[in-house]
Amino acid sequence: MRYGEFPGTRPRRLRTTPAMRRLVAETRLDAAGLILPMFVREGISEPQPVSSMPGVVQHTRDSLRKAAVEAAEAGVGGLMLFGVPEVKDAIGSQGTEPDGILQLAIRDVVSEVGDAVVVMSDLCLDEYTDHGHCGVLDDRGRVDNDATLERYAEMAQVQADAGVHVVGPSGMMDGQVGVVREALDEIGHQDVAILAYTVKYASAFYGPFREAMNSSLKGDRKTYQQDPANLRESMRELALDLQEGADMVMVKPGLPYLDVLTRIADTVDVPVAAYQISGEYAMVEAAAANGWIDRDRAILETLTSFRRAGASMILTYWATEVAQRL
Ligand code: PBG
Repeated sequence: MRYGEFPGTRPRRLRTTPAMRRLVAETRLDAAGLILPMFVREGISEPQPVSSMPGVVQHTRDSLRKAAVEAAEAGVGGLMLFGVPEVKDAIGSQGTEPDGILQLAIRDVVSEVGDAVVVMSDLCLDEYTDHGHCGVLDDRGRVDNDATLERYAEMAQVQADAGVHVVGPSGMMDGQVGVVREALDEIGHQDVAILAYTVKYASAFYGPFREAMNSSLKGDRKTYQQDPANLRESMRELALDLQEGADMVMVKPGLPYLDVLTRIADTVDVPVAAYQISGEYAMVEAAAANGWIDRDRAILETLTSFRRAGASMILTYWATEVAQRL
């Protein structure tokens, strides 16, 4: 039986061999576009495994240095650092201490990898507050937007003073990008860039990250993170962040929001990142551990999909491993 009425149209011709498929691939992964999120915890002497993220640890300062070098040697393009302090309080004091764990870690990592890798830091209070929210609370227990902005401005300054190349404001407060930009410029850090967590949905997939942060959050973040039902709202967040001076924008989580990613990537002329978050990592690892999916293929498929959808950069906990494989 001959195929069809149009014998010239055979898409399968371009799938015949690995060499042919490689040649015609429309999307390629490269190590330079990968960013590794890393956790560093104060007051521990051995790295602590995060049980819901097999293979991921809370680093000591020492193990963080080594992992940063390993990532750099593999060709990873960026590192995103998160600090877990020993003591948390209502206003997240440790987030603005010049010798707070994140600031120390930034200094360590920058002195280790220099300018070979872009060093980034999470700029948010949830790692530092005892109530686990991304901001400070008002007298009725609500997250106070403008009081939080003042804390973010201070955080930006101590992180920049520690030598970070890029700050990542991730708390979804209104006006955070503008306030951070102003705070950086005010003390002469015009060169420190802002990777804005522009689109950040209130997601169930952050679960394992909360373990990684030793978070004591009760309740949810729905008064500041976005409703998964909304897309137009993301375009509004995007317009505001760009006006306020975002140098790069991010969509987060990743896989459930590829449509949002594509819309954003088609709209802007700044680099666009996707964050493949903790729950996405955990799902693949858990299914693979049960023998239900092919782990290595699944990882590459998810990362390729982010690129196809329009991301130029991907934050992924597999960054070093994948960079070594590419
Ligand atoms: C906020 C922040 C979160 C993540 C990155 N930055 C948690 C949240 O918003 O609840 C989640 C990352 C992940 O789940 O991998 N500081």
